[in-house]
Order: sequence, then C-alpha cells, then structure tokens
Amino acid sequence: MLTDKHILLIVSGGIAAFKALDLVRRLKERGARVTPVLTKGGAQFVTPLSLSALSGAKVYQDLFDLTDEAEMGHIELSRAADLIVVAPATADLMAKMAGGQADDLASTLLLATDTPVLIAPAMNVRMWDHPATQRNLATLKSDGILTVGPNQGDMACGEYGYGRMAEPLEIVDAISDALADGPLKGCHVLVTSGPTHEPIDPVRYIANRSSGAQGTAIAKALVALGARVTFVTGPASVPPPAGVDLRPVETAQEMLDAVKAALPADAAVFAAAVADWRVASASDRKIKKEAGALPQLTFAENPDILAHVAGLRQGRPALVVGFAAETNDVVAHATAKRARKGCDWIVANDVSPETGIMGGSENAVTIITAEGAEEWPRMGKDAVATRLAARIAVRIADQIAGMPT
Ligand code: CTP
Repeated sequence: MLTDKHILLIVSGGIAAFKALDLVRRLKERGARVTPVLTKGGAQFVTPLSLSALSGAKVYQDLFDLTDEAEMGHIELSRAADLIVVAPATADLMAKMAGGQADDLASTLLLATDTPVLIAPAMNVRMWDHPATQRNLATLKSDGILTVGPNQGDMACGEYGYGRMAEPLEIVDAISDALADGPLKGCHVLVTSGPTHEPIDPVRYIANRSSGAQGTAIAKALVALGARVTFVTGPASVPPPAGVDLRPVETAQEMLDAVKAALPADAAVFAAAVADWRVASASDRKIKKEAGALPQLTFAENPDILAHVAGLRQGRPALVVGFAAETNDVVAHATAKRARKGCDWIVANDVSPETGIMGGSENAVTIITAEGAEEWPRMGKDAVATRLAARIAVRIADQIAGMPT
C-alpha cells in the first residue's frame, strides 16, 4: 500500500509516543521506508534503540550532530521524504510550528521544508481546548498542514475528552490518503470480491466458480485513481491487487463482518459472488462415509451483504454498486435486483456458460442506474474495471460538488 514511500516520522514528547512504535511497525508492514526523528521530550518516553530496531533506520536526534550533517543535512533529511508525519504532536511542537520557530532538529526540519506534513496531536484535554492550541491548530491548517485526530476518550492523566492520539491504523489511513494522487485521492472505497466457501465439515465446502478477476481489476483501477481501497475477498484464484488494505475471508458471514468493520466508506462495490446459502449446521468433524447412507444437508440463508450496506440508515456509503450475474432477461432481472437490494447501480453480466464470462478474462456488462440501462460493449475485465472506476470518480466528484445525483 505504501510501497517505497519514504516517511520522516517525528516523535515528540508525550505519553502517546509509545504508540509511535506500533505506527512504525504498521508502516513497515505496508512497504514504507521510515526515518525516525526523536525530540528530547520524545526520548523520555521511547528509546532511540527501539525506534531504530523497528524502523531498521538511523534515528536522528540532534540538530548539531556533525556526523548527521556530514551524512545528510537537515534540509536533505526532510527533502528526501514523501511525507513528514509528527506523531505524537505535542501542544508545544504545534506552537513552535505555528510560530515558525526552529530551535531543535524537529522544528527546524518542519520549517525548512515544502514536503507535505501530517500531524497527530496528543495532549491533555485542557491543553487541546485551550484557545492558544486551537489558534495554533487553525494557523497550521491554513498553512496546509494535514491533521488526524485527536480522538475522544480516557486520558493517561485520568481525565476524559479530546486529546488522545489517533490510533496507529487511523494514522496509516491518513498517511495513505495524504500520499494518494488522482481524482479519488482522499476517498475510501470498499470492494468485495471472489467466491465464498461455506463449510460442510472441516475438509469439505460449497463454493462457486468466481475467480475474483473482476473484483481484483476494479480494486486495481480504483487504486490507480488514488482511492484508498479496502479489499474484502473470499478465496479467489487470482492474486490480490497491490496497494489495497487486504481483508481475506472465507464465508459469507465473515465477509459481512469484515465489511462492517471496514465502514465508513465513500463508495462500496460488491463484486463478490457470495454463496446464498450455507449448510445449516456444518459438522466440526469430518463426515465419514457409511455404506448405503447418504448425508442429508439442510441449508440456511446467508446474510445479504449488499442489501445490508445499501439499507444502512447511518453511515451508508454515498455510492453503493452491486453486481448481478444473470443467465437470461439480464436487464429485467438486474433492474428488479437494483430495486430489491436498494443499491444505486447494478453492474449486470450475462454468465450463461456459452459466454465464457465466469472465470474468463472478458466481460459484457450493462450498467443499471436510476436513469436506466446502459449496455457496454464486450471488453476485457481490466477495461470494464477502468471504465467503472472512472465513472465512480465522476459520480463522487459530482456528489462533493453538491450536484444532483
Ligand atoms: N450479494 C451479497 N451478499 C449475498 C448475496 C449477494 O452481497 N449474500 C451481492 C453480490 O456481491 C452482488 C449482488 O449481491 O453484488 C447480486 O448477487 P446475486 O447472487 O446475483 O443476487 P441474488 O440476490 O443471489 O439474486 P438471484 O439469486 O435471484 O440472482
């Protein structure tokens, strides 16, 4: 997701500094290169050794450290980064930034740069609410500094309110948004993909022929337009796309849980071929073959994930796109499905065996919207994905501009 992105991480002195260690780990997991800078205050809470062990990089601490200047001057240090992240950002460091002060390595780096900066403030609730901090925050925002958090909650000092640093994964999301480029920059899109496997017993399951190719191609196309994509996928036969937040699942129920956990999203695309039924009581032991006796399976209905999300009263994505796999009367069935499931668009495809679409590399789709049906010519699944992602971008941009949808 953040492959080869270079993050300069400034850790200043607050109790939340311990969470910076987890942040480094999460960034490394996603392929980012992290160069830590530790302030004097930060070093009261975390050690340079733990930061360098987790980041695999040298930790910079002192403005006047000649070795550092010989290796890489402070100007170069911030210029080499794609993004400067301050986590935690104390009230004091925010005040220095707002006032343009440069009396230590961190504040000097922050002044001597035109690299984008994201801060994750963390402090006592009274310090956060203080007019001076709020004034500094307003100044920083108008200077183009990005912020994430703080969150509301219990504080280390025993008080309750705003001031807790955003969680490491929230900061990772904010970093991804800050680094994205394209018309969907800053947008979170949820994509479901692949089949689901519904267990009969520990070794057998019921599945379908979906390869996950179309959902994967859509996720790739959305990433290419700058979206932050959460990709919830059943056991697909194509590899997952790069650059997504990958959430692998097996069953429909697990897919629903993962989708709920991934919300809120600006748009959601349900390309998964979810099994409509599961075995009502899957055996936790392997069912043994007994001469003359056939196992009797009874089924239960799976939750409809698309209908659940499309019907949310609170936190419904602005655009909900479903798929319809039909074998006959495609437009009529898909139009009825759009109304039944309550989604905005249905991407309908004809999956009759003679079309070769299910599991194949091409698709012939019809998009059903409130305005009617629009047939697209048969094309590669990648081309369908590119066209659909572009259309999603236009729709979301219209929404942001407040135009009628
Ligand atoms: N879907 C879902 N959860 C389910 C079933 C389907 O999210 N339990 C979503 C699929 O991802 C797809 C859309 O609903 O976007 C249509 O799925 P489909 O299986 O074609 O529709 P059904 O509701 O099963 O209708 P029918 O069997 O009548 O075709």
